[in-house]
Amino acid sequence: KILILDFGSQVTQLIARRVREANVYCEIHPNDVGEAFIREFAPKGIILSGSHASTYEDHQLRAPQAVWDLGVPVLGICYGMQTMAVQLGGKVEWSDHREFGYAEVRAHGHTALLQAIEDFSTAEGHGMLKVWMSHGDKVTELPPGFKLMASTPSCPIAGMADEARGYYAVQFHPEVTHTVQGTALLRRFVLEIAKAKPDWVMKDYITEAVARIREQVGDEEVILGLSGGVDSSVAAALIHRAIGDQLTCVFVDHGLLRQNEGQLVMDMFVGRLHAKVIHIDASDQFLGQLTGESDPEQKRKIIGREFVEVFQAEAKKLSNAKWLAQGTIYPDVVESGGTASKKATIKSHHNVGGLPKTLGLKLLEPLRELFKDEVRELGVALGLPPEMVYRHPFPGPGLGVRILGEVKREYADLLRRADAIFIEELRNTRDTASGKTWYELTSQAFVVFLPVKSVGVMGDGRTYDYVVALRAVQTSDFMTADWAELPYSLLKKVSGRIINEVRGINRVAYDVSSKPPATIEWE
Ligand code: XMP
Repeated sequence: KILILDFGSQVTQLIARRVREANVYCEIHPNDVGEAFIREFAPKGIILSGSHASTYEDHQLRAPQAVWDLGVPVLGICYGMQTMAVQLGGKVEWSDHREFGYAEVRAHGHTALLQAIEDFSTAEGHGMLKVWMSHGDKVTELPPGFKLMASTPSCPIAGMADEARGYYAVQFHPEVTHTVQGTALLRRFVLEIAKAKPDWVMKDYITEAVARIREQVGDEEVILGLSGGVDSSVAAALIHRAIGDQLTCVFVDHGLLRQNEGQLVMDMFVGRLHAKVIHIDASDQFLGQLTGESDPEQKRKIIGREFVEVFQAEAKKLSNAKWLAQGTIYPDVVESGGTASKKATIKSHHNVGGLPKTLGLKLLEPLRELFKDEVRELGVALGLPPEMVYRHPFPGPGLGVRILGEVKREYADLLRRADAIFIEELRNTRDTASGKTWYELTSQAFVVFLPVKSVGVMGDGRTYDYVVALRAVQTSDFMTADWAELPYSLLKKVSGRIINEVRGINRVAYDVSSKPPATIEWE
């Protein structure tokens, strides 16, 4: 396995993603994790991540000595390269001038890492890589034993290697998709240089996970909050596979779910899997608590708090339950754990933590090590329908954050209908070039309700009704996203249907903002 030490970069998770894509197991831990931990982890190779915004003020962040003592290959990325240089006797020049974005890097000499990997070659025959750079400081003097591996005009030491020790470092970011050969480069590091075994596959994972859950839980009972989302559904299916009726799912309908969502969840879990599910309609309670509140953060807090309350009341009735199961996945663990402390909070997510302390139950989180696409693969392997498993993500607070400002049942009802039309058309319309549906071609798509009225005309009459916005984005990690260039014919059909079929809405807008600077959700 591979150890990734996180210095606080926003994209550290992508490194892990790429490594797992090579079927190699890896974990992310904070850069200051203890020496003993690193030795015990016994990695085949170590990757040092980049750091957040400006490394200048934090240039004291260092890799523990154990990294250099273990004698395993190390790959430094961006800040990881700088700290490698400093710790091994080279020099770094601190600078507040940042180089950010696309760059072309020349590969020098032969190294096991960059050899025969290139995007194009220059007239002089130099191999070139198209990469993504984001740094201010840079290495100005190689540490003893290192040779130059890559350069750009503005960054003469953009890569370095000490092949005898298996140390490699690049100033650019191989983990982001903009670096064309990035995946190939990381694959090469973990498989050929670190010689990690590519033995991370899903079917073995189920067998192992089922055995682990049985051993952990014994004959005790487990309770799980089912949300209808992919993560909790897959967790439920996996735990049900392991312990059957020892699992009770509680499905809280907060009144902010999508159209028919409750029915779909019940059909699947009760109808097909024969799992025990308690379905609670708590929409009055949630909508009641939300009355008069229009601040996005407060709305999230209220929904989170009410969820805990309703769930807790139900859990108390199940007096035999000793375990609380959650569909926490790896990105949640990393985002809310120590490694994220250096990153800025943009929105408070409420799907992790909170429950167990108040319930006094032991925590069962069988998806903790998995990334989203691994969770999906697992879901399909467990027999969940692909339409469910490949659904776009839906936020915990549901339509609560897609109704701008104050939430009302009337708004939620209008929004549900408009949203269902948009999703239906995305699923039914194929892009001729790729043969895929627009639902598949977008990462997340939904309708946002704007509580403003505008004037329209219908038949002979004037209307004065609400506005909705369509939002559709393409992204690989949800940290950055581009608005989707949906065909005009599709937008036209969706807008026509919403305005004709949903009385109360007379205007449809399309959101053409990317993230950043906009976020995907409007609140
Ligand atoms: P933003 O709007 O921050 O969203 O660009 C990024 C992704 O996170 C989802 N999201 C949430 N998920 N609870 C959740 O479980 C939340 O409070 C929440 N807020 C945003 C959003 O749908 C998108 O996929």
